Amino acid sequence: MEHAFCSCRLVYRGIKDNNKDISFLHTAIQLNSISIAQSENEILRPQTRKSSKGLVTSLVTKTLLGVMICLPRSRSSTLGISTSRQYRGMGYGSEAINWALDWAFKFSGVHSVSPNCFSSNMCAEKLYERLEFMREGRRRERVWFNKS
Ligand SMILES: CC(C)(COP(=O)(O)OP(=O)(O)OC[C@H]1O[C@@H](n2cnc3c(N)ncnc32)[C@H](O)[C@@H]1OP(=O)(O)O)[C@@H](O)C(=O)NCCC(=O)NCCS
Repeated sequence: MEHAFCSCRLVYRGIKDNNKDISFLHTAIQLNSISIAQSENEILRPQTRKSSKGLVTSLVTKTLLGVMICLPRSRSSTLGISTSRQYRGMGYGSEAINWALDWAFKFSGVHSVSPNCFSSNMCAEKLYERLEFMREGRRRERVWFNKS
């Protein structure tokens, strides 16, 4: 059940009864007369946005399983963390990062998680090293602050 809504190359998500999903279904599927002829058992006729909206509503409320079949987004993710000052240096940051990594790899299907920090942030840099993140590089002149 770890990746119940993914297969080898695809991701499956719920259909939303909103403009974005209705427009997608209307233009990518319903306006294609060959698709309609092959998939509907009704008389072949031009589809309207209203009929596409009706289809979405019915998929959302009536079908046993109606999903949008999607190509996966990037399988890499970034990680940021901030703990309250009075609780720093007590192992809570490490514990929380390890929990987030477990969650990401067990449940979200990502392949990599990368924390970022400023080179001046020795505390975070040391922590990430201790947790065995590998340094992949240093981005130079990335953030401009106060004209420098
Ligand atoms: C970076 C930050 C998240 C670390 O959080 P934290 O809760 O202090 O993290 P930890 O307590 O797990 O680790 C900090 C140090 O405490 C030490 N520590 C003390 N008691 C500990 C315990 N019981 N268990 C584990 N580590 C302990 C760790 O060894 C670690 O030292 P090291 O990194 O020199 O090895 C925190 O300093 C912070 O919020 N900084 C501001 C925001 C920030 O810079 N975020 C990172 C960039 S996105």
